[in-house]
Amino acid sequence: MSHPHIAARRQRLFERIGEGIAIVPTAPETLRNRDNHHPYRFDSYFWYLTGFPEPEAVLVLIGSPQQAILFCRGKNEERELWDGFCHGPQAAQAAFGFDAAYPIDEFDQQLPRLLSNRPALWVSLGHDPEWDARIHAGLNAVRKEARSGTVAPRTFHDIRAELDAMRLFKDSHEIATMRRAAAIADAGHVRAMRACHPGMAEYVLEAELSHEFRCRGADGHAYPPIVAGGLNACVLHYVSNDKLLNNGELVLIDAGCEVEGYAADITRTFPVNGRFSPAQRDVYEIVLAAQIAAIAAIKPGATFMAPHEATLKVLTQGLVDLKLLAGNVDGLIEREAYKRFYMHRTGHWLGLDVHDAGDYKTGEAWITLVPGMTLTVEPGLYLRPGEGVPPKLAGIGIRIEDDILVTEKGAEVYTTAPKTIAEIEEVMPDAAAPRTRPCPSV
Ligand code: GLY
Ligand code: MN
Ligand code: MN
Repeated sequence: MSHPHIAARRQRLFERIGEGIAIVPTAPETLRNRDNHHPYRFDSYFWYLTGFPEPEAVLVLIGSPQQAILFCRGKNEERELWDGFCHGPQAAQAAFGFDAAYPIDEFDQQLPRLLSNRPALWVSLGHDPEWDARIHAGLNAVRKEARSGTVAPRTFHDIRAELDAMRLFKDSHEIATMRRAAAIADAGHVRAMRACHPGMAEYVLEAELSHEFRCRGADGHAYPPIVAGGLNACVLHYVSNDKLLNNGELVLIDAGCEVEGYAADITRTFPVNGRFSPAQRDVYEIVLAAQIAAIAAIKPGATFMAPHEATLKVLTQGLVDLKLLAGNVDGLIEREAYKRFYMHRTGHWLGLDVHDAGDYKTGEAWITLVPGMTLTVEPGLYLRPGEGVPPKLAGIGIRIEDDILVTEKGAEVYTTAPKTIAEIEEVMPDAAAPRTRPCPSV
């Protein structure tokens, strides 16, 4: 898809590279076994600048006169018979708005010509040894021609750093796409809440999310989903999703879909039987209050750490109220006493990657929030059984995560899946009732 926003991103990069040259390859295909590949996912930087989905492709931007060149798989009818449609250079040039396009097989041969007499090279070095070697070979081929007056680039820039800075601010097309991803992910979480009941396997609940994501046209999951019943919720990266969901326990789902390359990242925690117990309610209300306070702290001019600081105040006070910590709240925060029960940060940038590109600090200072940035807010409490944790609280793990756009006025919350206790209990009226549909056993 040729998109004016994508051309505008290339234009910004043209202005940055001056008379230099920029080279951005897409991701390689990865073999799973024999002739069987892992599902293909393009490189986020390449996608950001091209919108071109096929593997074996490279974008070359030449400054002065400006030229955007694509190298891609050549048209090959025999191969298309097996692998399906492939644009080929001619169709890709027209459909995606490049100035020129060539078969990928010609890339290494054309590279010395492209590099010749360009003062600067913008490239990602040190991420892929195979690419580093190709670039070095191209540079050395130019250097061999020095006696004929040809010079190779002498200045090297990290193109990813440049693109990271651009990707931190979402344009209107990205914001629209992220709203779509959020809406589909919301629907997946609602479906999971409606389907959930005691005795179900975690992977069946995962399947409910996958079904909703695909039925609504998302590409699939943006990251391995976490469906964690009971104590499993206290394992932060639990992804096996292979246990049964027990009556009386909570289930934590951290799952989001990918739409046109953009991720949603939602966590909801709800009772397997649809009704919060008094102890679950107490902990849940603390995490929810922390999440609401964190969102309220997001506004232009605040730092990236403002939501985390707001979270720590509410969670630490909550841990004191639950009698899990004792002492003065400021002192407990200072000593990081909360870390036993809350050991991660409150959010991260979100975009093409679930943990998206972009710096978090400038020098020693945390980045200041500016409209167009998107981030998650995801406080939690993880009360593992152990010393000082009463039985009624032991094993409760709760996280609540939403996706936020920084706006002129403050924050827009993209994600709207039920979040308050009343909202959750309303969408799960029958969870405790016996089901006629049998649930596969583990
Ligand atoms: N799902 C990954 C995260 O929440 O950061
Ligand atoms: Mn998440
Ligand atoms: Mn997250």
